[in-house]
Amino acid sequence: MNRVIIGADLGSVTIEKYIYGHFSEHLGRCIYEGFWVGEDSDIPNIRGIRKDVVEALKKLNPPVLRWPGGCFADEYHWMDGIGPREKRPTMVNTHWGGVTENNHFGTHEFMDLCELLGADPYICGNVGSGTVQEMAQWVEYITFDGKSPMADLRRQNGREEPWRLPFFGIGNENWGCGGNMRPEYYADLYRRYQTYVRHFGKNRIYKIACGPNGDDYRWTEVLMREAGAYMDGLSLHYYTVPGTWAKKGSATEFDEDEWFITLKKALRIEELIKRHSAIMDRYDPLKRVGLIVDEWGTWYDVEPGTNPAFLYQQNTVRDALVAGLHLNIFNNHAERVKMANIAQTVNVLQAMILTDGPKMIVTPTYHVFEMYKPHQGATLLPTWVEAEQYTWKDDSLPAISVSASRSQEGSITVTLCNLDPSRERAVEAEVRGAAVSEIQGRVLTGPAMNSHNTFDHPDAVVPVPFDDHQLTAKGWKATLPPRSVVVLEMR
Ligand code: AHR
Repeated sequence: MNRVIIGADLGSVTIEKYIYGHFSEHLGRCIYEGFWVGEDSDIPNIRGIRKDVVEALKKLNPPVLRWPGGCFADEYHWMDGIGPREKRPTMVNTHWGGVTENNHFGTHEFMDLCELLGADPYICGNVGSGTVQEMAQWVEYITFDGKSPMADLRRQNGREEPWRLPFFGIGNENWGCGGNMRPEYYADLYRRYQTYVRHFGKNRIYKIACGPNGDDYRWTEVLMREAGAYMDGLSLHYYTVPGTWAKKGSATEFDEDEWFITLKKALRIEELIKRHSAIMDRYDPLKRVGLIVDEWGTWYDVEPGTNPAFLYQQNTVRDALVAGLHLNIFNNHAERVKMANIAQTVNVLQAMILTDGPKMIVTPTYHVFEMYKPHQGATLLPTWVEAEQYTWKDDSLPAISVSASRSQEGSITVTLCNLDPSRERAVEAEVRGAAVSEIQGRVLTGPAMNSHNTFDHPDAVVPVPFDDHQLTAKGWKATLPPRSVVVLEMR
């Protein structure tokens, strides 16, 4: 039996809605085909942006969208992506397959997409190959209200009012594709570039510094020591790769060895958050600087027959568990984790949506984001969990993962994952400080570890009502099916 205590009358930390954020890069078929089809396309679109994709994503209440990269951000020159589309210069997307980028999707199109989605824009600027002036002018172009060369250029390109730009990243992975810098050097560059990222008018920018790669604790130490006072957020990137970078493993053809190792590696995000936070605590004990996990998710070998540089992969029940685990962990560390952006929204890595010409399907990961929606902006409730072990060969993991929150109206949401692919797991919960009289549940699972949605069977993995729960004197008990993500909403 797994035991959970929920402190229903406790809780002081808000789960920022931005933890449920997304990331979209000029990579493979994410922007082009995934979002952008152009105004002349036969695929129904709003000013060139796919209607079906916007409608599906809106159901998730996407709070924030990060763009244009990723590695692409540090070779992107934003001025190439404004003005009449047919006159925009092309460039080579050197990171992602050497394809020609026509710059048809630029600042105006991205801001339009964010407005259609109701998401806040998070733009990542170019430090690796761009200038301070270029970055400063981008911010002026987007946010300056008065008369200025950049604001006038924006007006000339059809946008009178400035946009709201709440989040700006000063470079991406500057320890790698963003310039191969040492933390000491980047910390100085960060201080310099961010100086010119101005707050124009009423617009206030939350400035995000490039943070560590996985367990690079020295990077965090140096950044916090040298530049902590100049940042609002520090990013962290961590991908769940079951195998090695050379042979990552298949998204759909895997056995229990790979199921187990994938979940074990996914759980590592908690250790990373704790250890980076411990360093941040020394420089920022009041937790003013947010840890921004702006790239996370599974990374497998691409689907057979697709371009290896396009990072197109399928998405199964295993990915649903990886998503559920990460989101529970982010919720439980909401005092430091202020935003997270899964990579990437459409057709790339652990996507919400897959497209094939005019066809579109949503993935098991999409459904997890939909099921976890009530946590957005709710108050985190502390949980104490005594979990059974899921043992595989000579190793084991906690069999369940849990997080809980209270909405402003007082309802309580508990999300649970059963990591065990073949055994149901019973959970007994004590809800302290609140009387529960009604529970409604939904569950996401599939007949096999690798169950997934396809263009022929788009509803193979969808959430269904979950009734295997009962009220008890102290709270409730439930039996989680094998390999499942469950949401319980109680009043
Ligand atoms: O998401 C794919 C790539 O992974 C991003 O471009 C980069 O930031 C990371 O290495």
